[in-house]
Amino acid sequence: MTTDEITDLLTKAYIDEFETVMNYQTNAIVLDGIHAEEVKESLEADIQEELDHARILGERLKQLDESPPGSESFEANQHSLQPPEDTTDVQSVIEGVLEAEEAAIETYRSLIEAADDANDPVTEDVAVTILADEEAHRTEFRGFQKEFPMD
Ligand SMILES: [Fe+2]
Ligand SMILES: [Fe+2]
Repeated sequence: MTTDEITDLLTKAYIDEFETVMNYQTNAIVLDGIHAEEVKESLEADIQEELDHARILGERLKQLDESPPGSESFEANQHSLQPPEDTTDVQSVIEGVLEAEEAAIETYRSLIEAADDANDPVTEDVAVTILADEEAHRTEFRGFQKEFPMD
């Protein structure tokens, strides 16, 4: 049985994934400097995974007889992930990514709970699978945060 809470969360997550793709791509392009290379490579790799998440969420919405949204539903939230004025400010991008991954983790945890309550194991499985990827992204960027030189 599906519920409004499930379709709302799937829709929100779908939009968030696209906002993440846009900001990761922008930051992977704009960052400069010797400390930026690894972070840029990692962002490029994660973009493919985030796009895949959006596709899986959209397909689940379709299976539930709903349509994934178009761009008119878009509402931007990732203020801390806007490209930094100082393009060598890799640290601010790392922090922005950690914030975005935390927000995603929270959304997928809510989706797992809603799907469990509604006895919808397929949506629950989708959310668990994506949650594992987001936790891996968080771990990766926690690593960058640790090794990043403080100045
Ligand atoms: Fe994602
Ligand atoms: Fe992620």
